Amino acid sequence: MASTDKNKSVNLESEIFNPSKEIIEQAYIKQYESIYKRSIEDREGFWAEQAENLEWYKKWTTVLDDSKPPFYKWFIGGKMNIVHNAIDRHLNTWRKNKLAFIWEGEPGDFRSFSYHALNREVSKFANIMKSMGVKKGDIVTIYMPQIPELAFAMLACAKIGVAHSVVYGGFSVEALAERIMDADSRVLITADGGWRRGKIIDLKSIANEAMMRSPTIEVCVVVKRTGNEVYMETGRDFWYHDLMSLPVASPVCETEVMDSEDLLFILYTSGTTGRPKGMVHTHGGYAVYTSTTHKLVFDIKEEDRWWCAADPGWITGHSYIIYGPLINGSTTFMYEGAPNHPFPNRWWQMIEKYGITILYTSPTAIRGLMRFGDAWPSRHNLESLRILGSVGEPINPEAWRWYYKIIGREKCPIIDTWWQTETGGFMITPLPITPLKPGSATRPFFGNEVAIVDNKGKEVAVGEEGMLVIKSPWPGLARTIYKDSDRYREIYWKDFKKHGWYKTGDSARIDKDGYIWIIGRIDDVIKVSGYRLGTAEIESALVSHPAVSEAAAIALPHDLKGHAIHSYVILRAGLDGSKELEEDLKRHVSHELGPIARPETVDFVESLPKTRSGKIMRRVLKARALGHDEGDLTTLEE
Ligand code: WTA
Repeated sequence: MASTDKNKSVNLESEIFNPSKEIIEQAYIKQYESIYKRSIEDREGFWAEQAENLEWYKKWTTVLDDSKPPFYKWFIGGKMNIVHNAIDRHLNTWRKNKLAFIWEGEPGDFRSFSYHALNREVSKFANIMKSMGVKKGDIVTIYMPQIPELAFAMLACAKIGVAHSVVYGGFSVEALAERIMDADSRVLITADGGWRRGKIIDLKSIANEAMMRSPTIEVCVVVKRTGNEVYMETGRDFWYHDLMSLPVASPVCETEVMDSEDLLFILYTSGTTGRPKGMVHTHGGYAVYTSTTHKLVFDIKEEDRWWCAADPGWITGHSYIIYGPLINGSTTFMYEGAPNHPFPNRWWQMIEKYGITILYTSPTAIRGLMRFGDAWPSRHNLESLRILGSVGEPINPEAWRWYYKIIGREKCPIIDTWWQTETGGFMITPLPITPLKPGSATRPFFGNEVAIVDNKGKEVAVGEEGMLVIKSPWPGLARTIYKDSDRYREIYWKDFKKHGWYKTGDSARIDKDGYIWIIGRIDDVIKVSGYRLGTAEIESALVSHPAVSEAAAIALPHDLKGHAIHSYVILRAGLDGSKELEEDLKRHVSHELGPIARPETVDFVESLPKTRSGKIMRRVLKARALGHDEGDLTTLEE
């Protein structure tokens, strides 16, 4: 666990893994310091140079507009479309026949698409959406399993200048309904289900219930994935394959010319308080940031087979399954199901079968596979792998070493990338040439100046814990929160307004070599198996149950998941807690929010520690649960 390893920081900091000669010879970037220095001294020059690697219908006139902080804009005056860069431009080169996508379904079915084929699928679906009257300014909600049509739908939206809002397929009724409503979506794209651990996850039934709660949806497109019997409402619901065989689904579709700063997508993420916030990303800056980071950090070569094992419904999938890799003309691999189905060698089998060269996954997945022992990966030839990556939470050194030794055969650097939905792409990360320390995300990526500070903005001493801030804007930064600029300013920019710094919400420390060690969230964001949730969402799901009058949720360390959710509820007058009610509440949260949000424990309590102004003191609950000192209780209401 990251949190328990914290105390052993002294020995950890001196454990160094140096890159091999081969890795250094292959790498695009052979020297970090000088390029980093240059990227800070001439940030705009550095990013303009990266932007030159993309195709623009019209070149920008200004690289960065910082006249109205914190609302930064990049590549002003530039005209482009991310899909022109992710697909169209490859069609005029030999990459037309290169594999863009390889996909394997959980039952073992397989599909692959060249850039030519990808263009055909995307164009056809784009034409269908056009014929439905979807246009610039609309936001289409996508709620899908991990199947190729998810990528087609996202790209088709972007191609015609429509924004997408992808809702993770593991979310459930209320989570979906509230995201549809916030985005005022008229169109929902979903599927009859997806496969997970041999079972069908019936997304359409969840979508049906969500559509009852969110009346904005006029059209629902349904991909047939499992053949599961589902309810289709006449006049509202249409099968994807029926639409794709209509004459209007022509394989030729013009890509819309967009402004750099036009909306590409919103992606909801959990914050400290209230409802999930729709982070806004735009075509130009996001395209430049994701493609540059993907290429330089993972040293992407033409012949690589890249596997980012995240779900496309989270930012990692958006940036590094879909956009970054396709802009770089890579072959990107996607897998539908569970890592241990039917056996714990599923991933290793696919790496061998498809010749995957780079695997990018989460500490949770690594810990989950590690627990089955070395025999499973050892049965497979993993020689194709040359680089490994990690994301989502701090990786505990034990998992790091296993990943390095057993999966990477001590040859593959482990690229531990720290970033957020808000940052669009990697912010603190090693490069393949960086000497590694297990558990440290090492140094900032080019263009980024970071600091670890106290609440007054003063840098803390080496080894001290402090707040991680980013001192200057970068092209991948989320532009705002959809429909809520005030909240954007308030959450990220208020605390260090005087300095103009971005507050990440994470705490970290820096060691004597300038390596950064992320500790974790300092707010009420929870990371469960690397998935981001907010205590507020879990609490409101609990309170929506008729038996509950008040609820609090906290995260406690968990060996496999990193953190797990524990909850405390006050029942309505006259009700008593029972094992059945506990189960029912867990089920309720799972039904409303999704199985990932299901609390590990539900404790029935008489009262909750609160401040005099009525705010629940989760810090106190956490300290009590862990048997730690409860700290300063002067604000606690008696
Ligand atoms: C955490 C995921 C330590 C962090 C891309 C951050 C990490 C939050 C790492 C964002 C890492 C992500 N080491 N912690 N390599 N990567 N985090 O928005 O707390 O789902 O603030 O984006 O994940 O989660 P999000």
